[in-house]
Amino acid sequence: MGFLFKIWTSSVVLSISYIIWQIYVSPLRKFQGPFLAKFTNFWRLMDVAAGRTELTQKALHRQYGVAVRLGPNLISLSDPALIKKIYSIKGDFIKSDFYPVNDVLANGVRIANMFGTKSNEYHNAQVKPIQKYYTMNGVMQCEPLVDRTTERFIHILDTKFVKPSTVLKLDDWLLYSDAWDNIGEITYGAPMGFLEKGGDISGILQDADNSLDYFAIVGQAPWLDNLLAKNPIYPIGQASFGAVVQFSVQRLIERMKPQAATGKDTSQKDYLDYFMEKMGTEPWINDQQVVGWLMVNMMAGADTTAIILRAVFYYVLKQKRIVRRLQAELDAARLTLPISYKSTQNLPYLSAIVLEACRVHPGVGLLLERTIPAEGLTLDDGRYIPGGTTVGMNAWVVHGDQNIYGQDAECFRPERWLQQEDESEGEFEARRKAMRDADLTFGAGNRVCLGKNISILEIYKIVATLFLLYDLELVDAKKDWHVQNSWFVRQSGIDVNIKRRERAF
Ligand code: HEM
Repeated sequence: MGFLFKIWTSSVVLSISYIIWQIYVSPLRKFQGPFLAKFTNFWRLMDVAAGRTELTQKALHRQYGVAVRLGPNLISLSDPALIKKIYSIKGDFIKSDFYPVNDVLANGVRIANMFGTKSNEYHNAQVKPIQKYYTMNGVMQCEPLVDRTTERFIHILDTKFVKPSTVLKLDDWLLYSDAWDNIGEITYGAPMGFLEKGGDISGILQDADNSLDYFAIVGQAPWLDNLLAKNPIYPIGQASFGAVVQFSVQRLIERMKPQAATGKDTSQKDYLDYFMEKMGTEPWINDQQVVGWLMVNMMAGADTTAIILRAVFYYVLKQKRIVRRLQAELDAARLTLPISYKSTQNLPYLSAIVLEACRVHPGVGLLLERTIPAEGLTLDDGRYIPGGTTVGMNAWVVHGDQNIYGQDAECFRPERWLQQEDESEGEFEARRKAMRDADLTFGAGNRVCLGKNISILEIYKIVATLFLLYDLELVDAKKDWHVQNSWFVRQSGIDVNIKRRERAF
């Protein structure tokens, strides 16, 4: 009894000391935020679990300003001028403990990937051999593969949804087509089969959703991961993506056969070809490494592209004037099918729409967390944050900055990306540069999104194609979609009626 009492009193004394320390002594005491967040990460874990953290963080920054304390050792920052410092090319602010929650456990061994690793050395080694394939030039070599998916998608739209006229669940079909089948085509030279099936295959979509839910929530208190998915005795909670691994391994085995046996068109390269060219160039680039690279393409590249596409269609269809202006621009350009990425680059209104969709609904909706190096960080207002503190910026918060984007930053208005009547060329360039510099859609610095150009190419081509060929209308223009923030900010509930357009030429 006496022993238990001692433990109890020691716990109470320790807890009270911890609370007093956080309130009166901690170097982060001058940063305001939710009261409970000073003492525990469970506050933010619960907020992320509720699924709309981007809204919470926007509200907190409105209340407390440019720096908000979201955890005992975590500050959220919103000043766009800090992007270049925190997400520098040098990479001196390394990724936080949030990211390795994304590692997988295979036969008891923890395996990192280029997205989740905290180590800049490991990251450089992983990225360097393949980086050139992700430049816009590299991606454009795969453009015919994107066209194959679009052609199949058009056929399905015509035969399933135009005639007979049936409501199209655009949110789902963009995921099947432009996300999973497309990334499958350019990665393995073959679709995953989502379009053909019109639904999930081997639980891949469900696995992806579960894995993101786990990453987003457990990442708020990363030590929990050691008790859950990384627990060596009985791992709990994280999806294994067995079906995608299997698909990747099968494609690799097939591709290793002599060309005559595979019947592969060798003139059209895909990412599997690119990765295999690297095999053996370094002792560590073996078949496992190739599967690792294939997996990154699949896991990072599908959902994200679908999210931006959904945002484009949802926001454009909400305002008929935007549809009319976009279609007038597309008609005037006299585009031919398949629409080339190059031909979409002379369409300023299309470009304004894509930039605005990325701004208003960035695909990633949590802090891009980094650890401050030993020398610490001094904010413009003179407040100092010591080395070792985790900081981060949320694209949803930064993209709402009224100093950069204007008083109506909360609205979807593509025109903000175009030169205004009362604006000189120079003023427009300066305003546009400030908007581009504050853009965190694809992250920034040495850990900027590797697959950005793949998504950009897909998005421009599919948006131009669908608005050129079809008249789309929301079934209920007053109804809001459903949004769920689990790191990726996924949407559902975009039901549309679709008709072939009578084109003006
Ligand atoms: C619209 C589509 C996409 C969006 C919005 C997006 C967004 C992002 C963001 C915000 C980051 C930075 C994460 C951080 O700093 O914490 C990132 C990193 C990354 N993305 Fe994307 N992404 C997209 C498409 C893709 C595609 C298609 C691929 C691959 C084919 C890809 C592969 C990666 C990889 C490998 C990283 C980690 C980069 C690194 O650490 O060096 N992404 N992405």
